[in-house]
Amino acid sequence: MKRKRLEAAADFLRRKAGGELDAAIVLGSGFGGVLRERIDGTTVPYGKIEGMPEPTVPGHAGEAHIGLLHGRRVVAFSGRFHLYEGRATRDVIYPVAAAAHAGAKTFVLTNAAGGVNTSFHTGDLMLIADQLNLTGTSPLLGAALLPGQAHRFVDMVDAYAPYLRKLARHVAGEYGIPLQEGVYAGLLGPTYETPAEARYLRRIGADAVGMSTVLETIAARALGRDVIGFSLITNVHGAGATTSHEEVIAAAAAAAENVARLIEGIVANL
Ligand code: HPA
Repeated sequence: MKRKRLEAAADFLRRKAGGELDAAIVLGSGFGGVLRERIDGTTVPYGKIEGMPEPTVPGHAGEAHIGLLHGRRVVAFSGRFHLYEGRATRDVIYPVAAAAHAGAKTFVLTNAAGGVNTSFHTGDLMLIADQLNLTGTSPLLGAALLPGQAHRFVDMVDAYAPYLRKLARHVAGEYGIPLQEGVYAGLLGPTYETPAEARYLRRIGADAVGMSTVLETIAARALGRDVIGFSLITNVHGAGATTSHEEVIAAAAAAAENVARLIEGIVANL
């Protein structure tokens, strides 16, 4: 990862936000625009941000909402990069790295996920307590450390900060938003899981499964930043249920408002 590019991206984010960022938010499948109206600032296409990876699908570049959310300077990335698109890990974590360079101390990561915990229901929101990185890779591979990374070996205990999880439970309680809590398993994709894979994931301690987030969390922790994560359960594995992308997007859209309120409440209390 080129330090110069990251610094140019960070300068741009700071300029648009009016100073050092406080927090960064990554919005997963279906959550796209949920913060657009809530952030007092500007929206820019990813192409304007130095070093951002090129979109694989032209016209679906993604956009960043940059500005003030409850008085905090934030960037919300609407659209992320996945390994299943054939991306390098450095592309997957580029938005996180750029925001960290722009000063963001807190990262709110969101995703759509399948439930493997059989007590979950479609539409549930899960606070991520911990993760299983089952992608088979890491953004920290390589001779050089990430720009801004202090240590080669990164502690992953409490990767999802306990104080932020406590705050999330508090905010969810105030708004009456039910919140599950559990372990997110990040896989390569792009296939959804077979029933055997879902059973395996359940046995090794996963509550939810998806194709994102885990590498972003690793990168943020390597850069010394605090992370909180939410999975929207868009489908539940078991009893012969099948999964479709349309179902995932519809469930995400239905829950988007609750996710936006939660994120706003958390950022307001940072
Ligand atoms: N598996 C993996 N990723 C997903 C799923 C799933 O069932 N649902 C939404 N994203």
